[in-house]
Amino acid sequence: MKPRQILVTSALPYANGAIHLGHLVEYIQTDIWVRFQKLSGHECYYVCADDTHGTPIMLRAEKEGISPEALINRVHAEHSRDFKGFHVAFDNYYTTHSDETRHYSEEIYARLKKAGLIEVRTIEQYYDPVKEMFLPDRFIKGECPKCGAKDQYGDACESCGAAYAPTELVNPYSAVSGATPVLRESEHYFFRLSDARCQEFLRRYTQSAGPLGPVLQPEASNKMQEWLGAPGENKLTDWDISRDAPYFGFEIPGDEGKSTGKFFYVWLDAPIGYMGSFRNLCDRTGLDFDAFWGPASQAELYHFIGKDILYFHALFWPAELAHAGFRTPTKIFAHGFLTVDGAKMSKSRGTFITAESYLAQGLNPEWLRYYYAAKLNGSIEDIDLNLDDFVARVNSDLIGKYINIASRCAGFITKRFAGKLAEVKAEHMLAILGDGKLPDRVAQAFDDRDFSRALREIMAYADKANKFVNDQKPWELAKLAGREEELHQVCSLAINLFKSLTALLSPVLPSLAAEVEAFLGIARLTWADTRSILPAGHRINEYKHLMQRIEPKQIEALVLANRESLEPSAETPSQQRHAQHQQATEDKVQTSAQTSEPVISIDDFSKVDLRIVKIVAAAHVEGAEKLLKLTLALGEEPGAETRTVFAGIKSAYAPEALVGRLTIMVANLAPRKMKFGLSEGMVLAASDPDSPGLFLLSPDSGAVPGMRVK
Ligand code: 2FM
Ligand code: ZN
Repeated sequence: MKPRQILVTSALPYANGAIHLGHLVEYIQTDIWVRFQKLSGHECYYVCADDTHGTPIMLRAEKEGISPEALINRVHAEHSRDFKGFHVAFDNYYTTHSDETRHYSEEIYARLKKAGLIEVRTIEQYYDPVKEMFLPDRFIKGECPKCGAKDQYGDACESCGAAYAPTELVNPYSAVSGATPVLRESEHYFFRLSDARCQEFLRRYTQSAGPLGPVLQPEASNKMQEWLGAPGENKLTDWDISRDAPYFGFEIPGDEGKSTGKFFYVWLDAPIGYMGSFRNLCDRTGLDFDAFWGPASQAELYHFIGKDILYFHALFWPAELAHAGFRTPTKIFAHGFLTVDGAKMSKSRGTFITAESYLAQGLNPEWLRYYYAAKLNGSIEDIDLNLDDFVARVNSDLIGKYINIASRCAGFITKRFAGKLAEVKAEHMLAILGDGKLPDRVAQAFDDRDFSRALREIMAYADKANKFVNDQKPWELAKLAGREEELHQVCSLAINLFKSLTALLSPVLPSLAAEVEAFLGIARLTWADTRSILPAGHRINEYKHLMQRIEPKQIEALVLANRESLEPSAETPSQQRHAQHQQATEDKVQTSAQTSEPVISIDDFSKVDLRIVKIVAAAHVEGAEKLLKLTLALGEEPGAETRTVFAGIKSAYAPEALVGRLTIMVANLAPRKMKFGLSEGMVLAASDPDSPGLFLLSPDSGAVPGMRVK
């Protein structure tokens, strides 16, 4: 068989947020597929990069008081660490803020322009007069024109689901400065997707099936027909590819090296980042770039993406490539979203779990790889991480079925046969398995991205191997005189079955496979090892436990950790750490002495739920130097909701002096587990670092518990 030449990408994660379990569905899915192709002997490369441009990244850096370059460098290190932690093995993990991506962005733009597919038009757009910048739709908020819900984004209402233009919002405001935006004119550059050439090409491309099958999955293809409209209909509209300064990105080149003052929209250079990353790999390793991207390329090109970005990958991207003289993708593989326990990941429930926190809690990344694989079937359906099922499934399949085979047999080989295996015959293996075609079926399932089918086959294999061990009972044979040879045979067979199973599972569990290789004293497994047999006399090493069971309390701790780290604006792990630190110190008192804090928008402020509360009980906390334990009522009526808050105000107040007083609390602060109990909020007090005293805030008379402070 001639090795296939394959280039694979996953979507580029934005460089302003942490990798979380939702992201990992895609990277784990792609990594398993790539590992399978490599294991099968194909020439396969997996490239990715951080998606570094755009307004959110520019503003995030500004908020942190650092340059965008410093931000993207830090996040690149964090993302690389997280991917490595989950054994996602890119051949190159690069950045779109690179010379290579700039080069191809400019080249593609120039070729599209030459082909008459770029048009400059003046448009009207909302402008923030305070921040002096044009506002992307997501940075304009206001009341939904359809249902009146407040604080809705400029493109769609989260309350009623309506989609609209930002200019339709009622009482719009800038989410950056809070100012009322004004309409301003500006020149924008458009990619003419509505051009007949693009229409024709896209109909052909998205409906065609090359020798390797259709470009799109059936669900995606249906979507595409909807977007393209009926034959003869022209539903595609031109795509705005430019943004005005200030913007973090690549400036669009003008004629004869003149400056345009316009920047490529982040979605223009993001997919070009796939090329940039591959080019960088080629330059480092001597690979031929054109063999993969040139118009005559015979290589296969696959993009793994989430279903939400299909429009960009199946319409804009192939249309750009085709009209700029590059090859188009062989297939686009879309997947669904992740839900946790049947619901959208939620910060308040603690199910918005970061990759970093999963690893920091000491959870094994291969548990998650296995579970995701068991759920992925190559369709665009959403997948659910059911936390109870996660524990049950991993323990039952991996520990109860797979690891169990080695753990019950290896010891006898070491102790009774000096670590050496007996001769094992292929027909004996086959008799146990009852079916020699299983590795081929598993291979087909992996290639089809139906990992769930692959694992069902593999676990059926493990069941048969376990049945063999159960029936032969090596632990009983070991006690009987004259049954040495039988014991040797049974255990050697079991070890061979275990080795084949490991080879079958190795795309999913690469780190465990490496440990098994060391234990068995064998070279790197390949797909051929799903069938090979270790020779008589082959020496294995002493068995050491290969994988722990998941304890349900580990999952509880993970959810709690992600709930604890909640802060409304904390997105990167380092910011979360910063936020935790802040919260820890602010639990003592809220200081308001600094006046040079960064400006926040009204939107930021309105996230804080400030409430009038009545202190119904106050007590000293044993062992705490600075804390008082306060019980705060959020209403007057009997049975009103109460909260426990540990406040660092002991130096200023005797507990009995506080009972009955009204004060102000932050009611929507994430609960924080402290040494002395759970603190469910924070009370506000004034202080000055340079002078003594601590002053709890009180409302004017007339305010009653439960009232909102705005
Ligand atoms: O949706 C996203 O997270 C984008 N950063 C994906 C970009 S994929 C590719 F086009 F670069
Ligand atoms: Zn609405």
